[in-house]
Amino acid sequence: MTTKTPRAYWKPLAIGAPEPYRELPVRLERMIHFVPPHIEKVRAKLPELARKVDIVLGNLEDAIPADQKEAARRGFIEMAKADLGTAALWTRINCLNSPWILDDIGEIVGEVGDRLDVIMLPKVEGPWDIHYMDQLLAQLEARHGLKKPILIHAILETAEGVKNVEAIATSSPRMHGMSLGPADLAASRGMKTTRVGGGHPDYGVLPDAAGDAPRTLVQQDLWHYTVAKMVDACLAAGIRPFYGPFGDFSDAAACEAQFRNAFLMGCVGAWSLHPSQIDIAKKVFSPEPEEVKFALRILEAMPDGSGAVMIEGKMQDDATWKQAKVIVDLARQVAA
Ligand code: GLV
Ligand code: MG
Repeated sequence: MTTKTPRAYWKPLAIGAPEPYRELPVRLERMIHFVPPHIEKVRAKLPELARKVDIVLGNLEDAIPADQKEAARRGFIEMAKADLGTAALWTRINCLNSPWILDDIGEIVGEVGDRLDVIMLPKVEGPWDIHYMDQLLAQLEARHGLKKPILIHAILETAEGVKNVEAIATSSPRMHGMSLGPADLAASRGMKTTRVGGGHPDYGVLPDAAGDAPRTLVQQDLWHYTVAKMVDACLAAGIRPFYGPFGDFSDAAACEAQFRNAFLMGCVGAWSLHPSQIDIAKKVFSPEPEEVKFALRILEAMPDGSGAVMIEGKMQDDATWKQAKVIVDLARQVAA
């Protein structure tokens, strides 16, 4: 369980609104699986799909055509009534300056707010966007007598958002976490790529020249800086960081590599936009058995978490004990 700390400037607005900073359960969130809710065939398969994923998200924003926005919203309300087992239910609503946002929030919270765990808010630029959502949700929760607060997950996908990432992370006790949105972020930054996440063959460094030997560019991770910045902002605020989408469904190996970089850097999950990415996320965001075994040896070698010991020639101390605990705690959660 985590405890959300109330921030000085955050005040519940409405009498009767639930307290967003009460204790909330921590659950596995290895993949946020996106579905288009306006497609009936997709909705019909939801109970089966929900058994395979940690989170089902009904997408109302980009990739849903403008003339289907209403149908997607109504479809999401239908979808919220389905049996989703233990999977959490999220929606990605349209952005704050779009014509659909008020109806997205009003209708969804009004009709199925008690089923909804998290609202993903796209194109968040600063804490003011979260404050607006925060108050709106407090009003609606009070009006509809909801017992559980609806949390907010921000997509980090504009240059301004990245500049303000720390203030966004601490903007409200309602903040659940944050995802990197590499496609919109690339556009906002003027990056010269049309890819959705992943690397680029031209972004790299050449090894030093060694005589006339041919040199090959060593590709670098385009997203390293932003993921690192986002992870620090999130962990310092006690919220959860996620890698976002990987658009090339034909390249499972590259998707796995991108997810793994994010996992090693501290992210807890990623988006799955295609069913084939569910198992990739499940594999990557659960610790490797060998890694768990070694971490357990560290914990066993230092039962009170202090001192220094050598295991297979590697020095272990209070800090590596804490590193090991991160891995073992996650393994226990996966096994539970
Ligand atoms: C996701 O929304 C992205 O823009 O990458
Ligand atoms: Mg986007």
